[in-house]
Amino acid sequence: MSGELSPIDKAKFVASKRAADYVEDGMRVGLGTGSTAAWLVRCLGERVREEGLRFKGVPTSTRTAELAREVGINVVSLDEARWLDITIDGADEFDAEFNLIKGGGGALLQEKIVATASDQMIVISDASKRVEHLGAFPLPIEVIPFGWQTTQALVEELLVSVDVMGRRSTLRMSGAAPYITDEGNHIIDLHLERIGDARQLAMVLNQVPGVVENGLFVDICDTVIMGFGDGRIELRDINTGAVETEKLDFVETDNLFADIGDWKND
Ligand code: 5RP
Repeated sequence: MSGELSPIDKAKFVASKRAADYVEDGMRVGLGTGSTAAWLVRCLGERVREEGLRFKGVPTSTRTAELAREVGINVVSLDEARWLDITIDGADEFDAEFNLIKGGGGALLQEKIVATASDQMIVISDASKRVEHLGAFPLPIEVIPFGWQTTQALVEELLVSVDVMGRRSTLRMSGAAPYITDEGNHIIDLHLERIGDARQLAMVLNQVPGVVENGLFVDICDTVIMGFGDGRIELRDINTGAVETEKLDFVETDNLFADIGDWKND
């Protein structure tokens, strides 16, 4: 590996490379969104080209769909696939119970639908995503544009009665305009600092009219594959309690890294 990649990018790469091994011929695979998931898509594309791996990929965003097609993955919609064998995606935070905060990349709605429609969900991450308590990363909620300020006020009111430390919320922007999701909605980021009961919060947020979905993933993730900058990988399975560590020796190949500048910060 040359000096081009930061330790965090190396960590994301080794986690993704290891996760790509879970995909087998004939599988239907949910493909996450974000910089870590982009590594995964690249690694899977390499397996398609070099090993002739055949699987159907269901992307969770237009960005991921474009990249997946570009690297040679057979892309299908969730409605075509119906149910998936596995989904592999990044996360913004995960705790010891594998509760997740997702949506930093704005794709939480498709990500949650796809992960929930999968037999297994694997999260790929670097060590910075592991937290004792969720909430330092702002929790995204996807809201419909109609009356979003009323929805925001209702959510802030609701936060008074749940176990969180902060209650500030902000509309996510893209330059001077509100960020628009693939479904044409807005994202409101909740600055909660510390979430006491993720399960309860996930349920009550979705009761607010105007909230389409929230970025808390509870009881969805089965396995976390965490990479480190020195090539180490830690695999944790919530169902078996197994923890394994491995070391990946890798070399920078032209195929996988040639256009890294174009996509590594997706
Ligand atoms: C996108 C997500 C991403 O998985 C999450 O934001 C992590 O992204 P990255 O791998 O770039 O750190 O939820 O909606």
